Amino acid sequence: MGQKLHILSEIIENKSIEEALIALEEQSSGAITFSTSFSFEDQVILHHILTTIPDAVKIFTLDTGRLFPETYSVWSSTNARYNTSIKAYYPNNDLLETFIQENGPNSFYESVDNRKSCCHIRKVEPLQRALKDNKVWITGLRAEHSPARQDLNIIEWDEANKIIKYNPLLHWSTKEVKEYIDTNNIPYNSLHDKGFISIGCAPCTRAIKEGEDFRAGRWWWEDNSKKECGLHSK
Ligand code: ADX
Ligand code: SF4
Repeated sequence: MGQKLHILSEIIENKSIEEALIALEEQSSGAITFSTSFSFEDQVILHHILTTIPDAVKIFTLDTGRLFPETYSVWSSTNARYNTSIKAYYPNNDLLETFIQENGPNSFYESVDNRKSCCHIRKVEPLQRALKDNKVWITGLRAEHSPARQDLNIIEWDEANKIIKYNPLLHWSTKEVKEYIDTNNIPYNSLHDKGFISIGCAPCTRAIKEGEDFRAGRWWWEDNSKKECGLHSK
């Protein structure tokens, strides 16, 4: 796999995101997909995809059932703006019903184990279904979001999901992301104007204060070391 990653990295080196998307689509014979949470960065990537190779990349979101109303609003306005219908993956009914029956609706505040189980049922298991049969997974991961994300690469091997990950905005700054959104008049989550940088589920995300780590508002009641939901290893 190291060899394949190296070749892909060379292929996309010095290419624009549009050119890289086209090259990766060809290299994967169309087995390429993009996960969006409708964050600032995901909206930038979505715009690149839908204005370059709209039918070539499968776009999906993981609807945990606990997203903010603002996230559903930007999802709707995105569908309207691009005349599309983003595919949503949902938690497995049986798993979720059993979990809620045994633990109640807000058990994520009670222990890290409960929180991780909730993330597994609402995000990780649906993600595994969404990635099935794909060779390349496009994400909006950015290095600025956390110290751990600073040593990621634009092209990565994701061992957990056995898939190549393409993180086109890895080295974009928040300012660059915002400028791109403004210049291209792209719909965005209105929570970004209220101090939210990294946005996940409503009960588990809050706004951050000036100077705080970008992910400080995610699972804020937990230790920094535990703050991943299992979608990404970093
Ligand atoms: S997480 O690991 O904390 O949940 P984060 O919110 O930083 O992830 O988002 C990083 C990338 O993961 C996004 O750009 C997107 O590609 C993917 N992602 C996160 N949440 C979702 C979601 N609910 N649906 C689809 N993709 C998501
Ligand atoms: Fe559950 Fe919170 Fe994880 Fe969302 S972020 S899946 S509500 S624990």
